[in-house]
Amino acid sequence: MEIISDPQDMRGRARQWRGLGLKVVLAPTMGFFHRGHVSLMEYGKTIGDRLVVSLFVNPAQFGPQEDLGRYPRDLDRDVRLAREVGVDCLYTPEAKAMYPPGYQTFVAVESLSQGLCGASRPGHFRGVATVVLKLLNQVSPQVAVFGEKDYQQLMVVKRMAADLDVPIKIVGRPIVREPDGLAMSSRNTYLTPEERAAALCLYRALVAARELVASGARSRENILAAVRQIINAAPGARIDYAALVDPATLQDVEAIRGEARLLLAVWVNKTRLIDNTLLSESRLCCV
Ligand code: PAJ
Repeated sequence: MEIISDPQDMRGRARQWRGLGLKVVLAPTMGFFHRGHVSLMEYGKTIGDRLVVSLFVNPAQFGPQEDLGRYPRDLDRDVRLAREVGVDCLYTPEAKAMYPPGYQTFVAVESLSQGLCGASRPGHFRGVATVVLKLLNQVSPQVAVFGEKDYQQLMVVKRMAADLDVPIKIVGRPIVREPDGLAMSSRNTYLTPEERAAALCLYRALVAARELVASGARSRENILAAVRQIINAAPGARIDYAALVDPATLQDVEAIRGEARLLLAVWVNKTRLIDNTLLSESRLCCV
């Protein structure tokens, strides 16, 4: 596995691959790999000839009061894992190469970025859309893979690529969970054992919502009331948002007609966790 840090070197390698007619796939990450990341890598390997995994803790997507400084990092372990999975290139640019002095250009995906995580984390999706566009320009992959765990992010990235004519396919992949249902996240490492137990309320709420829909419930009011009750009963849990939205526009829906997405952001003491699921009138889908 090759490790490239310099954006010019990355661009050069990508150009070489393209010249050979190879299909390049990119999985952007902030590192501290878990099985969610690994699932993106494994999938990426099956759909292309060269898999690039970028590892960059992007300062532009963290607010001033957020966890940039203490975001978990373990490069040695990440290198080992990426090598085991068969990643062809680990791309690890430095912040000063991504945002050199004088940097002043940012990408704003307007309406999709405004609610939900965008409301609680002002500027977050501007940072995400900007870094993802930069990575796409540097690596020029034919396909980029993202997790549905960050559902709003996936929608923002898809919109950005379509609106700015980036010749790429953006693929969303299913959420990978711990055996008890907690969605894998680098931020799970912040949780104490008690908080880890309380954090299961997100998954429980999603499962309860799915069961309600399976038994005929459709109204937003009924579904969100059940969700709120479950989360509020967990010690230390505080709802940031619980939203039932149209899966494409992320606008609130009053009732499930066809498909809706249930999106959750919950503080467990000082750790903010997100999770989501598809709620479908017709299809029994897994959480
Ligand atoms: P990060 O949180 O490291 O996540 C990298 C990718 O892994 C994202 O596409 C995310 O949705 C996916 N992912 C995380 N947890 C997952 C899980 N449990 N199951 C499936 N996929 C999961 O998301 C980011 O980094 C950054 O915002 C980034 C896109 C790299 C831009 O900086």
